Amino acid sequence: EQIKKGSYDHFMQKEIHEQPHSLTTTMRGRLKDSGVVLGGLKEHLKTLRRSRRVIFIGCGTSYNAALAARPFVEELTGIPVTMEVASDLLDRQGPIYREETAVFVSQSGETADTLLALEYALEKGALCVGVTNTVGSTLSRKTHCGIHINAGCEIGVASTKAYTSQIVVMAMIALAIGSDQLSTQPRRESIITGLSSLPSHVSEVLKLDAEMKELASSLIDSESLLVFGRGYNYATALEGALKVKEVALMHSEGMLAGEMKHGPLALVDENLPIIVIATRDSCFSKQKSVIQQLLSRKGRLIIMCSEGDISAVGPSASCRVIQVPEVADCLQPVINIIPLQLLAYHLTVLRGFDVDQPRNLAKSVTTQ
Ligand code: AGP
Repeated sequence: EQIKKGSYDHFMQKEIHEQPHSLTTTMRGRLKDSGVVLGGLKEHLKTLRRSRRVIFIGCGTSYNAALAARPFVEELTGIPVTMEVASDLLDRQGPIYREETAVFVSQSGETADTLLALEYALEKGALCVGVTNTVGSTLSRKTHCGIHINAGCEIGVASTKAYTSQIVVMAMIALAIGSDQLSTQPRRESIITGLSSLPSHVSEVLKLDAEMKELASSLIDSESLLVFGRGYNYATALEGALKVKEVALMHSEGMLAGEMKHGPLALVDENLPIIVIATRDSCFSKQKSVIQQLLSRKGRLIIMCSEGDISAVGPSASCRVIQVPEVADCLQPVINIIPLQLLAYHLTVLRGFDVDQPRNLAKSVTTQ
């Protein structure tokens, strides 16, 4: 059943719309009132807690999912987290030590760069944890332990539902590692509550489909699209831009909003469309000031904000606004990516490109 398109025109479209369900299966049997139960990590939790560093390793969308998880893994575990694109780690032969934990994130579990990085980390003696969608994959067989994301088979080359399930699994891993810390218990409980209601908020945000189609038609002839995010949503900016470039074949860059004045600001004019993610979290006031700076340079803005927050973000009449449901700050990336997935999908269809099989790309990159 999962490998049929059903009533959808494309697998990518189907996979975007099935996220309320895929997230439910990701969490099934794993969320309890007082914490999370992750059988795949049980034996290794003590070692994980003693790790001097957690290193997230992946490629493409899987890397972006790990980047989205980084802030809350640091917050809930107190362990420093560093990020590695698998190929870059190998190019540099970066240092990894035995008191460290390397977390490998891969939808397919067969990506060559990620598997080579895994061999490298195993040689160095680190604890190796896998986060994959594919039971029986090389990644799940060769890591010491891990969690399957259970998102169901993903066919479209552009990863969508795996991304949101990967973030949720890493949230559950952070909750499990941090579960021995009394001081963060209220925070953990609020995240668990947030996780339980996440699928219904995802259903809500999917109602933006028609609005994103209309936005796509206004961008159809643009040559380029920038996406500015920061904090929890820096990853959303990178992932939204990756979706647009890989399927809609439009140049797009995700950028750290804090870096705007260190170069990208020079690109701003009345033609270049810029999406600014300004949903509610501790970076909100900084994003408001980014919006003001872009408006004063006559930027063509599309602002993503929390529902009912239009006046608080202070857009001008010329801005387009995407309003999304507000959820726990660290889970907001799961919501915020969905309008961008829809936008990439509709842009691709309107521009007449192949949605499920973009040129030059393979679902799983099994060569170096
Ligand atoms: C995602 O849309 C891409 N097709 C690509 O970046 C992908 O995420 C990357 O190749 C990693 O694949 P994996 O998750 O199967 O390891």
